[in-house]
Amino acid sequence: MPATCVVGLQWGDEAKGKIVDLLSDDHDFVVRYNGGANAGHTIVWGSRTFRLSLLPTGVLKPAVKSVIGNGVVVYPPRFLEEVDSLAAAGIPVGDNLTVSDHAHVIFPYHMEEERVVEGASDGGALGTTGRGIGPCYQDKVGRRFAVRVGELLDEDHLRERLQFIVPYKNRLITALAGTSGVAPKAFDPKQVADEFIGYAGRMRPFVTDTSRQLHAGLAAGKNILFEAAQGSLLDVDHGSYPYVTSSSSLPSGIWGGTGVPSRQVARIIGVVKAYTTRVGRGPFPTELADATGERIRKVGREFGTVTGRPRRCGWFDAMAVRYTAQLSGADEITVMLLDVLSGLPELKLCVGYTLDGVDIDYFPSDAYRLERCVPRYETLPGWVEDISTCRTLADLPAAARRYVDRISELAGLSVAVVSVGPDRDQTIRLR
Ligand code: IMP
Repeated sequence: MPATCVVGLQWGDEAKGKIVDLLSDDHDFVVRYNGGANAGHTIVWGSRTFRLSLLPTGVLKPAVKSVIGNGVVVYPPRFLEEVDSLAAAGIPVGDNLTVSDHAHVIFPYHMEEERVVEGASDGGALGTTGRGIGPCYQDKVGRRFAVRVGELLDEDHLRERLQFIVPYKNRLITALAGTSGVAPKAFDPKQVADEFIGYAGRMRPFVTDTSRQLHAGLAAGKNILFEAAQGSLLDVDHGSYPYVTSSSSLPSGIWGGTGVPSRQVARIIGVVKAYTTRVGRGPFPTELADATGERIRKVGREFGTVTGRPRRCGWFDAMAVRYTAQLSGADEITVMLLDVLSGLPELKLCVGYTLDGVDIDYFPSDAYRLERCVPRYETLPGWVEDISTCRTLADLPAAARRYVDRISELAGLSVAVVSVGPDRDQTIRLR
């Protein structure tokens, strides 16, 4: 079985990029199946740091084919910006990168639609990244006002589509802004078309039927690595709804988002941080709104790659991870950023919740129930040693080993990798 999936088991930012980067050495394809430029993948190679939000992590390796599947929503200027910045860094991007002709296009009016509703003072904001993700997926499912990447390549068709869509969008945005107190911006169909026809000229060589490309790869015995864009708790169906993203970040998104049947995926690697973080709004039972949370944020450099927003930090939530481990079908876990916890006198792990006075042993995935959950903790001793130079499990202080073992027991999965720093070398491989 040739395919592997790397998926975050928390609310995102689990450092999946590092694991995908390590694994991409052994894969022919790295494929994104969901999300858009709302994701933030940081890859550190010695003194060089790369930040990608739309392109698959595999694009750093010219020998690997990087694929943006049909389930992704693509903002063309961002796509080209990332291609250009890699070229400027000496990493050539050419026929090693493809984008599905069936992926949907994000236009500036999607971002405006999001800005107007998120900026409203009506308490309904979800704390989104502002990248137009939700409105674009709404249009995809609604069908009438959506444009796929393949349609960008036919100039007359695109002009006609935008003549039809943009006036509707202007009316919609004005109507939404009517109640929000945010001044709406209007768009000119011709201007939008001119701008996007310009992008299309540069994108053309990358656009293809990626589903066919991947099936040809499978038939030729190639190895595929699927890369989830957001954490499982942000999955539109199974996450902490409505404080989620608008796509399927769980591996269930692979089939729909690439056309590759899930039976091709033989190995699912769940990635967790040694603690928990979350960006944006929504319930977070183990959040630490105190000096410990502040310390984790500072030491872990917990600021959003895409928006720069400070991430909310908290203790490891085993209830959440057991839930997503089950839903994702993870075979093993990798424990990331363990070094960030060095120096804390004691560490807490959430092993249960109390909901409305009743102890429960499951994760309620609706925000309105999750926000009433009070965590029940188990406390383990911390360690003071700097562990960033440890390269084997035996190098770790006993307390750190015990902490990792307990995470493994609570998640019900064995640990394949422990990460003790951002660099490729700062990795303890157990398998
Ligand atoms: P959207 O995906 O921009 O619509 O945002 C929906 C929610 O998902 C917000 O809480 C975002 O902060 C969160 N989110 C989206 N992408 C990521 C990510 O890559 N990492 C962490 N949180 C994310």
